[in-house]
Amino acid sequence: MNTRPDKHDPTTLRLLTQAVHAGNSIDPGTGAIRTPLVLANSYALPEDPSAISWSGTDVPLYTRNSGVNQLALQEKLAVLDNGEDAVALASGVAALHAVFFTFVSSGDHVVVADVVYEASYRLFAELLPEKYGIQATFVDTSDLDAVRAAIRPNTKLVHAETPANPTTRIADIAALAQIAHAGGALLSVDSTFASPLLLKPLDLGADLVVHSLTKYINGHGDAMGGAVIGSRSLINRIKSDAMVDVGGVISPFNAWLITRGSVTLPLRMRQHSSNAQAVAEFLEADPRVAFVAYPGLASHPQHELAARTMPHGFGGMLAFAVRGDPDIQNQFVSNLRIITSAVSLGHDESLIVHVGTSGPRAQHYPAEFKKWGHLRLSVGLEDPDDLVADLAAALELTLPS
Ligand SMILES: Cc1ncc(COP(=O)(O)O)c(C=O)c1O
Repeated sequence: MNTRPDKHDPTTLRLLTQAVHAGNSIDPGTGAIRTPLVLANSYALPEDPSAISWSGTDVPLYTRNSGVNQLALQEKLAVLDNGEDAVALASGVAALHAVFFTFVSSGDHVVVADVVYEASYRLFAELLPEKYGIQATFVDTSDLDAVRAAIRPNTKLVHAETPANPTTRIADIAALAQIAHAGGALLSVDSTFASPLLLKPLDLGADLVVHSLTKYINGHGDAMGGAVIGSRSLINRIKSDAMVDVGGVISPFNAWLITRGSVTLPLRMRQHSSNAQAVAEFLEADPRVAFVAYPGLASHPQHELAARTMPHGFGGMLAFAVRGDPDIQNQFVSNLRIITSAVSLGHDESLIVHVGTSGPRAQHYPAEFKKWGHLRLSVGLEDPDDLVADLAAALELTLPS
């Protein structure tokens, strides 16, 4: 028997309906049908506060523990990722740090994908080993034997990213979860590039999923946030250790903006994916382009794994290079008239950034990234024909045919 969809029970709703309704409720004070922005730091205590836990995070008490807008956003994020609970923090990096800080202690060991976001890399390559004696082994997570071999008796966490920034490498989450769990470790997955619309790591066996909310989930390039989603018990530990006692809480305004942006996430991810596919195919067909890395291309080394684990689209992120030295790559970028040269990703507008071949992370990149450097392109929501026309014109100006 089919369950009748009911907006008060998100488990009965399909994804597009969840994106509109989850976490939202009629405001009891004003009757507003969308959760209002509540900027107050503190909430009224009951007449007898003796039963209140001052470090509690379930009811609005103090904005570092929980506020109205943070709670609404967390409820929605948990629904979208099929988790029991979520914690929303000040940035994606605050969320990553919260996972590492909560679940890894001095003397522990971590297996980290060798291609991960810059801050995750530096935290495990330098800061956590130097400050807390945490040991980390960086491995190519597409080589499952290497991951298995890297696990030690004191390994507490395996951390991967999929699609990975910037190479778009895909992680086999189910296989990684099996390896991590067999070794008594947790698996955390940074799924920022995919968003919960294209990939649900918890369904595939991951214990924790991390998102930079700054990117696709907000989608409009005007707010920062990060989140971790997982079981209630794991998320409670993060809330109490890394939020209440470390304090990297999300601001009410950013939580409100991100909640609003997330309503259109399914529609945006579809458009990002189809635009990126068109752009990737155009670039790959041009002989002036040295390489294109996009999971939706048959030439991507893990195209089949991507198609199996991301059946609704491959996302909006790709990397490529034009044939030429760094000056040529820069000239190409400055010849663009629609695509903006700026960091960040997942915004409504297309963004491109030229990254050279130096830096400690580059040693782990595929050969073509090491040879040419790369242009990381976050394909936006513009008309795909305009994006292709912009790229074609910039190619012609930079390397006339
Ligand atoms: C995969 C990934 N994770 C985490 C982050 C960090 O997010 P934030 O900038 O919100 O701290 C980024 C930022 O680009 C990212 O690309």
